Amino acid sequence: MTTTTPLTQDELKTLVGQAALQYVVPGEIVGVGTGSTVNKFIDALAGMKDQIKGAVSSSVASTERLKALGIAVFDANEVRSLSVYIDGADEIDGQGYMVKGGGAALTREKIVAALAERFVCIADESKLVKALGQFPLPVEVIPMAANHIARRFAAMGGQASLRLKDGQPLVTDNGQHILDVKGLSITDPLAFESEINQWPGVVTVGVFAHQKASVCLLGTAQGVKTITY
Ligand code: 5RP
Repeated sequence: MTTTTPLTQDELKTLVGQAALQYVVPGEIVGVGTGSTVNKFIDALAGMKDQIKGAVSSSVASTERLKALGIAVFDANEVRSLSVYIDGADEIDGQGYMVKGGGAALTREKIVAALAERFVCIADESKLVKALGQFPLPVEVIPMAANHIARRFAAMGGQASLRLKDGQPLVTDNGQHILDVKGLSITDPLAFESEINQWPGVVTVGVFAHQKASVCLLGTAQGVKTITY
């Protein structure tokens, strides 16, 4: 009898990163997200860099990785639209609604996603949830509004904490801070995203409901599962 070792989370990320290549349109510019799963996609994309015009990136980290592999990076202002945006998620539910921002890139991710006709989410199966809210919700905020926004979340039953890096508030690519909010019940992601987005001082809330996934390539023990919404 032969036994097979289950794939590690890292191997699942590699699988979905490679599977995402099928959505890249030759001759075009592709939208590229941020994170460890996207890094696998970027590495795979290097293999077809001569077939694409380049990428629009959602973070300094992804830009550096793309450029290091010889992939041209365009400013978002240089493109009118993209066929596809490929990115990971911290949580994705059965309708394609996501929580994102674990890598602090949520604002630029939402901007590049907004340019794209199709959002392809690449994730290992640990990210699939019945309802959003287990992963602490990232919210990018203007620093002077952080405590006020934290109190507003507390009034909704959430506990917000300022994300730190090396003991100091983490500063995003946009020069802002991140609050991570635990204990929220996100029963209506569309309404929740709309509500939080209009609080003064909120730059971006990490619920991606208005820009949800069109497709999820989910890495599972049985291989890559394609879920369309
Ligand atoms: C970055 C993100 C990432 O997509 C999310 O955190 C998932 O990252 P990973 O692929 O490393 O698990 O939203 O801001």
